[in-house]
Amino acid sequence: MEALDALFNRVSVPRLVAPAPTAEQRQALFRAALRAPDHGQLRPWRFLTVEGEARQRMGELFAEALNIADADASPEALNKARGMPLRAPLLVVVIACVQVHPKVPESEQVIAAGCAAHGMLLAAHAQGIGAVWRTGDMAYDAHVAKGLGLSADERIVAYLYLGTPERELRRAPELAAEDFVRVWNG
Ligand SMILES: Cc1cc2nc3c(=O)[nH]c(=O)nc-3n(C[C@H](O)[C@H](O)[C@H](O)COP(=O)(O)O)c2cc1C
Repeated sequence: MEALDALFNRVSVPRLVAPAPTAEQRQALFRAALRAPDHGQLRPWRFLTVEGEARQRMGELFAEALNIADADASPEALNKARGMPLRAPLLVVVIACVQVHPKVPESEQVIAAGCAAHGMLLAAHAQGIGAVWRTGDMAYDAHVAKGLGLSADERIVAYLYLGTPERELRRAPELAAEDFVRVWNG
């Protein structure tokens, strides 16, 4: 697939089924991630893959986190949290690993990790893999961070859900560049 075609037409795919991306496809996903622009070449990212029964354990972690955050959480809400990681055969947790640096502030390191996530979405689309970037409360929860083994300097940037699209992809919305672009002449 042409690069511009992937850039213009990538869409999120919320409904994902098995099979998960193959080993070869995953290599291409991570290779694309690692080409993210990266001030200082800090490589401020790491990735966790979660699949099979580990998704159930992640769901339990989410439910525990919700219970800690809200002792009155309803059984429905807890079940919803439990089911979240089951929405795709493969999850990739994109983690920004922030270091103190004289020239590269935290925001730039998180952006670089976000670019890595976007690279994975584009590489997924180019290979016919469905993918969607999600965050939500579980991306910013201390209990989840601990359960996933994050250090104090790490942030969850994305839960990428990946798999086979259940149905035909929707068409990408076409926005007019002129609505967002102005010439600045000083
Ligand atoms: C940082 C970030 C976090 C996001 N978190 C969520 C989320 O938690 N739930 C969700 O439905 N979409 C989330 N999205 C948006 C979707 O990934 C997607 O981009 C959006 O639905 C638009 O669809 P499109 O990518 O096909 O244009 C997030 C996007 C970004 C960049």
